[in-house]
Amino acid sequence: MGYNVAIDGPAGAGKSTIAKLVAKEKGYIYVDTGALYRGLAVHFLDMGVSPEDRTGIIGAVKSADVTIQYEDGAQQVYLNGKNITARLRDEAVGNMASMSSAIPEVRAHLLALQQNMAREKDVIMDGRDIGTCVLPDADVKVFLTAGVKTRAKRRYDELTQKGVACDLAEIEKDIRDRDERDMTRETAPLKQAKDAVLIDSSHMSIEEVAAAIVALCK
Ligand code: DC
Repeated sequence: MGYNVAIDGPAGAGKSTIAKLVAKEKGYIYVDTGALYRGLAVHFLDMGVSPEDRTGIIGAVKSADVTIQYEDGAQQVYLNGKNITARLRDEAVGNMASMSSAIPEVRAHLLALQQNMAREKDVIMDGRDIGTCVLPDADVKVFLTAGVKTRAKRRYDELTQKGVACDLAEIEKDIRDRDERDMTRETAPLKQAKDAVLIDSSHMSIEEVAAAIVALCK
């Protein structure tokens, strides 16, 4: 059994940035489970299924084989043998992932893959339901959050730095919508596990949050 660290929290809380730092410091493998849901979303979009078409998504998920590989330490996502990592951050892919991840058949499709990775290796895995559903026996559980406005501003700064034109109010609305969907869905909603440590990163630096998590690990 590997040593397992579960990090859950809403979009934009800094989970991936911080999990990558902790992984590097502790020698764990970082598993970004959102990328798996995004990988399936690419498949649904390529099949021409709309985000509202529940039956279409349940049909399409059967023909999706999503796997993860590590190349030069970076996580690469393969869909039916093809590396689709470059497409994962598209806005349409994020929206499809948010909608389709509410469907139990979609979640079930990815469960064993996530659990097998944690069984074999020391991992820090981030997502929405890692501490509650995927790895209920994780050695360390963290629920990482930050205020909506802080998260929206971080996303705005990130996009602006990349030269992408964007609107802060629109980003904030998007984050609120996604929070609502992730927290109110019936299957595996986003919520803090009873035994998770709550960290609110609103007024903490990336390094401070990473150090707090490292301190929880063996
Ligand atoms: O973390 P992210 O933005 O890459 O995730 C994309 C979507 O996938 C997000 O809206 C919710 C969903 N997701 C999930 O339901 N469970 C996870 N463990 C990870 C992501």
